Amino acid sequence: EKGGFDSFMEKEIFDQPAAVADTLLGRSDAFGRLTLDELRITPEELASVTKIVVLACGTSAYGGSVAKYAIENWCRIPVEVELSHEFRYRDPIVDSNTLVVSISQSGETMDTLMAVRYAKEQGAKTLSICNTNGSTIPRESDAVLYTHAGPEIAVASTKAFLAQITATYLLGLYLGQLRGNLFSGQIKDILADLGKIPAKIQDILDRAEDIKELARSMKDTESVLFLGRHVGYPVAMEGALKLKEIAYIHAEGFAAGELKHGPIALIEQDKPVFVVVPSPRGRDSLHSKVVSNIQEVRARGAKTLVIAEEGDESVREFAEFVFYVPETPVLLMPLLATVPLQLFACELATAKGLDVDQPRNLAKSVTVE
Ligand code: M6R
Repeated sequence: EKGGFDSFMEKEIFDQPAAVADTLLGRSDAFGRLTLDELRITPEELASVTKIVVLACGTSAYGGSVAKYAIENWCRIPVEVELSHEFRYRDPIVDSNTLVVSISQSGETMDTLMAVRYAKEQGAKTLSICNTNGSTIPRESDAVLYTHAGPEIAVASTKAFLAQITATYLLGLYLGQLRGNLFSGQIKDILADLGKIPAKIQDILDRAEDIKELARSMKDTESVLFLGRHVGYPVAMEGALKLKEIAYIHAEGFAAGELKHGPIALIEQDKPVFVVVPSPRGRDSLHSKVVSNIQEVRARGAKTLVIAEEGDESVREFAEFVFYVPETPVLLMPLLATVPLQLFACELATAKGLDVDQPRNLAKSVTVE
């Protein structure tokens, strides 16, 4: 059942080309128009939305944080992302023009379910992005967009995360289409780029051994930092979460720009620091800012482990280790840059002899508040 892999987690990491492809399947027509008829919410209702609030926990919340960049960019609708358990206890402002998008792999996370119920009571429209057919959160929501990652067994979420990003992107494109923010040509181009993602993930998986070797060499590491900017920031957070939960290693993700506001004090000789570097083809300042962050930590002795885009030679001289991911538009980079970080955590935990699929103290779905 593990398909020859050592753990379900590893198998599920390798399932990711299919998870993304299946989530895209059948959701647009030959003209590049999104056809999300399954949503159970009318186009008119969606077009009237003035604010989106994304509610989720853990990895799913990082999926929401990635989505914020894309949806705001494509649709010009403000998107707030909040942890479900924080949302409910602070008297949040939502009304009938608010679209509350919950993201949950299991559809049974109690914190998220309670937040969705609360939002409904306040009159918000609720849309569930979920990987489990017929589970409670989609049943109680006005609308649903399923991710088609297939059952996720390992406690650490991997393929559900990439499928969630894919689904929220489809939602963003659909909203952009309905509201006229995006031209059909733009939607078609973005869908074409999304369509190329599965093969690009496969290319990363084919080179898994490079990152696994690094992971094995670091099995006695006590602490790892992860830095990213823009969409690389939630990717860094997700990389840190994976390492904490399955390898029991202290790990923290930071927005790279925050370094000089405190975290840089943590840098000492040989401190491992992953840095997610955005494409040099994107907004130029973004790339160069992150490259200078690498230099800053390197100058203070950090062991810099860089995830960068193929062809980006500028990072080499400041990096102890570089893993290249294929070229893609900046907003889609999380679908690629996350994969080496998942492989890293999985291999490191395996090298430590830990139970990768069933980490201590954790359950696959958290059905208590
Ligand atoms: O089923 P959900 O997506 O609602 O679960 C949310 C979190 O509990 C989950 O993502 C958790 O953080 C994972 N163990 C992370 O790998």
